[in-house]
Amino acid sequence: MRVLVIHGPNLNLLGERQPEIYGRLTLDEVNDLIRTSARDLGLDVAFAQYSGEGEIVDAIHAARATYDAIVINPGAYAHYSYAIADAIASVSIPVVEAHLSNIAAREAHRRTSVTAAACVGSVSGFGPNSYVLALRAVAQIQGK
Ligand code: DQA
Repeated sequence: MRVLVIHGPNLNLLGERQPEIYGRLTLDEVNDLIRTSARDLGLDVAFAQYSGEGEIVDAIHAARATYDAIVINPGAYAHYSYAIADAIASVSIPVVEAHLSNIAAREAHRRTSVTAAACVGSVSGFGPNSYVLALRAVAQIQGK
């Protein structure tokens, strides 16, 4: 079973970007952690990082032909991108949202995720483990 992990804008700067909020691991190190968990779960995982909203929409569309599920951290787009929410709603493969920080406990503008509402579920607040938990959810949904 193939899973695409999509990281949104500014997540390429993980490790140096507000480490008190997002931790000290780089994106490559987070991906290594996800890859190890995926192996344990018997999932085949691939990674992508985009800054642009349209690029994320295109990646979701393309993934429907090649992947069985998506784990996505849309970054700030989570809070206002109806285009990404619509893209998630437009594909039949399950999409699970992950956030490093607990968006429910942050500034008012981060407390709502319009994209999570289009996903099968979301995980928020566990640092890089949010992705691992999202992968576990995907494996469970797919009966692995
Ligand atoms: C984030 C939370 C968003 O509010 C923020 O814009 C990000 C990272 C997270 O993983 O905690 O870029 O998605």
